[in-house]
Amino acid sequence: MQRIESSAEMQKWALSKRGKGQSIAFVPTMGFLHEGHLELMRIGKKKADLLVASIFVNPKQFNDTSDLDSYPSDEEGDLEKLRSVGCDLVFFPPADEIYPADYRTEVTVSELNNFLCGRTRPGHFEGVTTVVSKLFNIVQPTLAVFGEKDFQQLSIIQRMTKDLNFPIEIIAGATYREADGLAMSSRNARLTKQERAEAPTLRKALKATKQAFKNGEKNSQELIQIASEMIIKNTSGTIDYIEIVDADRLQTMDIVNKPSVMALAVNFTKSRLIDNIRL
Ligand code: PAJ
Repeated sequence: MQRIESSAEMQKWALSKRGKGQSIAFVPTMGFLHEGHLELMRIGKKKADLLVASIFVNPKQFNDTSDLDSYPSDEEGDLEKLRSVGCDLVFFPPADEIYPADYRTEVTVSELNNFLCGRTRPGHFEGVTTVVSKLFNIVQPTLAVFGEKDFQQLSIIQRMTKDLNFPIEIIAGATYREADGLAMSSRNARLTKQERAEAPTLRKALKATKQAFKNGEKNSQELIQIASEMIIKNTSGTIDYIEIVDADRLQTMDIVNKPSVMALAVNFTKSRLIDNIRL
């Protein structure tokens, strides 16, 4: 597996491969890789000639500096995991390679960032879309794989790719879970033992809500109430949001009468966990 730290070198490598007719699958990450990330890599590996991963803890998408400072990392472990899935190249830039001192440009996708995580993490999605556009230009992929766990991020990136005419196919990878249902996340490592035991409630609450929906309940507030009661009763976390939004425009809805997603975020002492389910 090759490793490149310079953007110019990365872009040169990619353009030369593309020039020879080879396709590139790309999986951007912030490192501390787990099976969820590796599943996205496996999807990419199957669909293209070459697989490129990036590891970059993007400071622009952290609105809380303590979250950025305590973001876990494990360089050796990550490289080993990437090798195990047959990754051809890892792009591992230092921060000033992506944001030199004179860096000034931001990419914003309007409206889709006013709901869910956008409301409680101002600036977060601008940070994501800015870095992902840069990475798309640097890595020159044919396709890029993103996880459904970060459902709003996936929607925003799909919108940005269309709006800015990036010639890149965006592929969604299903949420990969621990045996007890908890969505894998680099942030799970920062849960206390008790919080880790409580955390599968998030998934249980989403599933119970989906069951109520299937049984005929279509009122958003009633559905949200089911999930919220379960989380309050069974965890020590505080609910950041539980919302039901339509799957395309991410607008909240009073009555669930079209394809929609219930998404939630819960704050634990040192970790904020998110999850979602399609209704
Ligand atoms: P990160 O949290 O490292 O996630 C990298 C990719 O892995 C994202 O597409 C995310 O949705 C996906 N992922 C995380 N947990 C997953 C799980 N349990 N199952 C399936 N996929 C999962 O998301 C980011 O980094 C950053 O915002 C990034 C896109 C790299 C931009 O900085």
